[in-house]
Amino acid sequence: MSKPYYITTAIDYTNAAPHIGHAYEKVLADVMARYQRLKGNEVYFLTGVDQHGQKVQKKAAEVGQEPQAFVDDITKHFTALWTKLGVHYDGWAATTAEPHKKVVQAILTKLHDKGQLYKASRHGHYSVRQEQFLTDKERREDGTFGEEWGEVIELEEANWYFKLNEHVEWLKAFIRSHPDFIFPAFRANDVINALEGSGGIDLCISRPKERLTWGIPLPFDPDFVNYVWFDALVNYISFAGYLADEVGNTGLPEFKKLWPANAHVIGKDILSPPHAIYWPTMLHAMGFSDDEIPQLIVHGWWNLRGGKISKSLGNVIDPNVLADTFMPDGLRFYLMKDIATGYDADFSDERIMIAYDKDLAKGLGNLLNRTLKMANNYRSGVVKIGGYDDEVCASLRTVTAEAEAAYPTKMDSWAIHQGIEEAWKIVTAANGFIEQTQPFKLAKDETQAARLDAVLHHLAEAIAHVTVLLNPIMPTMCAKIREQLGWTLPEGFKLSDLKWGLLPDGHQLGQGTPLFPRVEIAAEA
Ligand code: MSP
Repeated sequence: MSKPYYITTAIDYTNAAPHIGHAYEKVLADVMARYQRLKGNEVYFLTGVDQHGQKVQKKAAEVGQEPQAFVDDITKHFTALWTKLGVHYDGWAATTAEPHKKVVQAILTKLHDKGQLYKASRHGHYSVRQEQFLTDKERREDGTFGEEWGEVIELEEANWYFKLNEHVEWLKAFIRSHPDFIFPAFRANDVINALEGSGGIDLCISRPKERLTWGIPLPFDPDFVNYVWFDALVNYISFAGYLADEVGNTGLPEFKKLWPANAHVIGKDILSPPHAIYWPTMLHAMGFSDDEIPQLIVHGWWNLRGGKISKSLGNVIDPNVLADTFMPDGLRFYLMKDIATGYDADFSDERIMIAYDKDLAKGLGNLLNRTLKMANNYRSGVVKIGGYDDEVCASLRTVTAEAEAAYPTKMDSWAIHQGIEEAWKIVTAANGFIEQTQPFKLAKDETQAARLDAVLHHLAEAIAHVTVLLNPIMPTMCAKIREQLGWTLPEGFKLSDLKWGLLPDGHQLGQGTPLFPRVEIAAEA
């Protein structure tokens, strides 16, 4: 049996409610998971929350809550949003869960036993916000540290280190010989540059308890807790069943069936060093082979007017509000259409409005409404496949077939926006087909009855095809459209089953009710 397609996302920090960037990443992974299922693959989709660390400890203290209660509250905002947006995961990785902690501790013990960890004292500049020591590389030309590091303090501290440097030569060779390790490939250069300039500093994997209590204790030194990144990265294997028998974890997938992950979907900010340097070297130190290093899918950022979206800047866009305004699938559609995976995009009220109004309401929605209205008026909603054919009909079939041939090549290479474009070629062609064939005129002429049948059939059939291609992106709306067409995806239907002839002769279409109501947006004050 083939291995399931194992897809993960970054696990979100639970120091604040989710914003549009978090939503984008989870939707992107969900779209890929649904697309893989559509191809007939078994899928395991893991996402979750990163609940330990200094940021959480600090925020919880500020609001006078215990850290666990604090993260549990914040976590609810994430799970509620994923439910609302139709993000369907198979596994939930919350790093305060006992099974995860046990695996982190078991890994630490193994690495300690193997001599991969050592204790040392270090003096230097430390960023409280990023929870890491800074080197001269992080200094600006004037010698100061940039705003992204937040408060920087001088610190002398004993800590535990992972011998990351022992694995750097292996990592460089691995990256060079595995061009698929990082997607898009151009991002691998950043990693190689970072490795060249890393200055041979090993990875600090602990924080002293006197400074940070909110973490997983080191099993061999109770004065320390594990550094949040080490803990967080392990989620990809701990929740996939790694060491399950050894630590007594149950109810998790069988690790050897899942690993390696096909895709770790992450943002560009956490590629280097965490995912491209810490993670593969950790895996290598644990004894994972080159074939067991997962692929990284690195997406870009949603910005706002060219600048960063951040809570502190007061410009956070609430995905809940957007989902309420444009419906969850309207938001999913926009987030997939207006960005190319790997690159940045600018969030814009105007563009989400255009995507909703022009593409969904006027493009797809009108096509469906007009088709159903005409079919119901002229043929009581019954699809008739007669013998009539002509060039115009043939051309709609060709557009559909070509779009369907191109769609998987786009989706397989994470170009979701181009997958949408392919589906839209059918929508545009079908709308144009109505203009060309003028069914309302054909209906008035008895001699054109066979042609009218063919036109209505082609329209309904083309829409059915669109609902298959767009299903990963807008699962709810596509199901609603199919409901109006009176058609459901047959059990076990695969993308490869998508061929002209989905609707049989005599198929009864349903009634059309507008699916994309008008949205009025109050002008910004
Ligand atoms: N907790 C770590 C990840 C640990 S993974 C083992 C973290 N959390 S985060 O909440 O800050 O970010 C979660 C994900 O959201 C990251 O992949 C990050 O790149 C992504 N995004 C955060 N802001 C974003 C945008 N404005 N746009 C797109 N994605 C962005 O990092």
